[in-house]
Amino acid sequence: MQSRTILVALVAAALALSFGTASANDGSIAAGKQKAAPCEACHGTDGNGIAPNYPALAGQYQDYLEQALHEYKDGKRTNAIMNGMAAPLSDQDIKDLTAFFASLPSKLSDLHGKIQGGD
Ligand code: HEC
Repeated sequence: MQSRTILVALVAAALALSFGTASANDGSIAAGKQKAAPCEACHGTDGNGIAPNYPALAGQYQDYLEQALHEYKDGKRTNAIMNGMAAPLSDQDIKDLTAFFASLPSKLSDLHGKIQGGD
């Protein structure tokens, strides 16, 4: 009886682990960090862009970054640089890169009170 309880607990743990792995396909921050070297030339090592014309990726929603990269890859978003950068990325590369950039501390702020012509 006791060994049966242990068996049930083990099966439950194994199931929990396998679900854990499935959702781990949100990408790996560590793998993304390794893959991000070419991106950092423009988006910065802190993910905030080396100049204002390079968008901050740090702390943006991961799904937003993912969507953007898929759109550059598919050509739905056109930008000469980013279409080229996204072209060779696999789905897993995109998951890892976006997990990494989304994990970085954000310097994003809204434009409340700063919109030109606004009040
Ligand atoms: C040579 C400079 C350069 C490099 C290298 C570069 N990017 Fe970009 N990236 C840009 C520019 C410029 C834009 C804005 C393009 C536009 O207006 O659509 C951009 C936009 C993006 C966006 C959309 C951001 C948003 O807020 O909509 C993402 C995501 C992104 N880059 C990810 C990456 C990743 C990941 C890499 C590395 C694989 C990378 N970039 C490499 C210059 C670069």
